[in-house]
Amino acid sequence: MNSDQANYTKLIVQLLGPNWADAIKPNEHWEDMEGSAPLPAQMFRYVAEGVAEVTDTFTYSLQSLWPVNKQNAPKTDVEKEGLQFIADNPGQNFYGEETLGDTTYFTAVYPDVAVSPACTSCHNDHKDSPRSDFEIGEVMGGVVIRLPLPKT
Ligand code: HEC
Repeated sequence: MNSDQANYTKLIVQLLGPNWADAIKPNEHWEDMEGSAPLPAQMFRYVAEGVAEVTDTFTYSLQSLWPVNKQNAPKTDVEKEGLQFIADNPGQNFYGEETLGDTTYFTAVYPDVAVSPACTSCHNDHKDSPRSDFEIGEVMGGVVIRLPLPKT
């Protein structure tokens, strides 16, 4: 999943060179804009939604305590706890368990870090972003993975 993000950057961005953004015009409103491509985070969500259609052995999503898209805000207490933990403890992952309905899940949260100025400037300047002070190297959100545990 991390490599979804890394490969988009590596393969698409490097392939097109420094003017990659002019070439494919990545834009969240790409559907309404001719010649424009989805953002990495949108690609990630489309693939995650597709995966959820073919398997119920696990689900995953890219979330943040400060989401541009409210759909990416944490919904459960353990998601909130995990995102707070990875924000407070750079370099660490979070692992927890939660019971939703009659199923207990293993929930893991892996940090998504601002690796380039493109990450921080786009989020900081975005009108729907609740934060405008992200810095390079900071945890911006995380990948949440949830697996149902066998019933005992
Ligand atoms: C050109 C603007 C832009 C760039 C560059 C960008 N993002 Fe985003 N990011 C967005 C938008 C818009 C969304 C919401 C996408 C959706 O609809 O799910 C988003 C979603 C996210 C989310 C999910 C939570 C949220 O804010 O909705 C995370 C985490 C995230 N981005 C991290 C990053 C990181 C890390 C980078 C750099 C590797 C990055 N972004 C680069 C615009 C951008």
